Amino acid sequence: YRNVRVALLGGGTVGAQVARLLLEHADEFAARVGASLELTGIAVRNLDAPRSADLPKELFTTDAESLILGADIVIEVMGGIEPARSYILQAINSGADVVTANKALLATHGTELFAAAEQVGAQVYYEAAVAGAIPIIRPLRDSLAGDRVKRILGIVNGTTNFILDMMDTDGASLEHALAVATELGYAEADPTADIDGYDAAQKASLLASLAFHTNVPLESVHREGIRGVTSQTVELARKAGYVVKLLAICERLTDLVTGEEGVSTRVYPALISRDHPLAAVHKANNAVFVEAEAAGSLMFYGAGAGGPETASAVLGDLVSAARRHVIGGPGMGESTHANMAILPMSFVTTRY
Ligand code: NAP
Ligand code: HSE
Repeated sequence: YRNVRVALLGGGTVGAQVARLLLEHADEFAARVGASLELTGIAVRNLDAPRSADLPKELFTTDAESLILGADIVIEVMGGIEPARSYILQAINSGADVVTANKALLATHGTELFAAAEQVGAQVYYEAAVAGAIPIIRPLRDSLAGDRVKRILGIVNGTTNFILDMMDTDGASLEHALAVATELGYAEADPTADIDGYDAAQKASLLASLAFHTNVPLESVHREGIRGVTSQTVELARKAGYVVKLLAICERLTDLVTGEEGVSTRVYPALISRDHPLAAVHKANNAVFVEAEAAGSLMFYGAGAGGPETASAVLGDLVSAARRHVIGGPGMGESTHANMAILPMSFVTTRY
């Protein structure tokens, strides 16, 4: 076998599981790719921090830049904007393909990163950035590229779904449920990103941009989080036959007066009828409904957060990148049902 050198930036909830699975299933990866995937190192901040997997100590380093220099593929699962952005640019400019789970970075600097990649013929893969283990980036970018997506509606944040579900089923407080979600590795390093809807808004911006073949900037996404949802709200909703869910909605709209077409993207807690399929999305699961002109309604469902679950999506991207590296085959391509028993608490329409 040939050798593909893989540098891993981040050894936390996701990174440790990526490394574990890559080492445990090395032979299977080699057979699938036609080359050995050599994990050359794991960049972290603190060499002594406890890890969620038993990994060889000698793999860990605090010198991310040197690790990137020798890599064919760089996996970024550090999170945050800097130094993740600079490391990804360094990787691209040194000829590596990149796999990232970092929606915060892509939603704010995606245009810059994709342009840099395009300039040198590199690829940026990001299946893990939206809805954890659920394949949704490829379906939107590739499988549905010949159709016309009209609307996407879904639960795309596992932490808030876990919290709202625990408030609904156990009568837990938001604070207690958040502590459990954090312990289980679902929450962002700063859980404000989950609670206040930033994470869901970032994902909505990525989904809308792909689905509608345009740039839907994060600033145009209307965002309301679940901070104001109290135990009393959840209880009242339940008595009225509803459940509260944080929804992300991306849709094409036509201005009735001018006939102009626009996109509305919004995230907010909504009351969902208990007989709606989204009401049955429990714990940290996600669900994404895609409504397309020819395909009709499609539903994607599964684990929206968690170390091994997200590692699955990261490793799928790694296999694609490694195959491209080995055979020079096609990479990611160009960078770029709901039943209506849903009562939005509010919404804002944005246009481009
Ligand atoms: P995490 O547990 O906080 O891990 C972050 C890792 O990156 C840690 O190993 C940390 O080192 C390392 N790191 C952070 N800053 C660094 C720096 N400046 N230099 C070197 N290493 C640095 O985060 P996570 O939950 O794995 O999430 C990682 C990324 O995946 C984020 O972009 C997140 O949004 C995304 N994501 C997470 C999930 C999930 O369920 N957790 C799901 C989908 C996507 P130390 O260990 O030494 O602190
Ligand atoms: N904090 C994120 C969530 C991780 O809870 O959905 C997965 O993107």
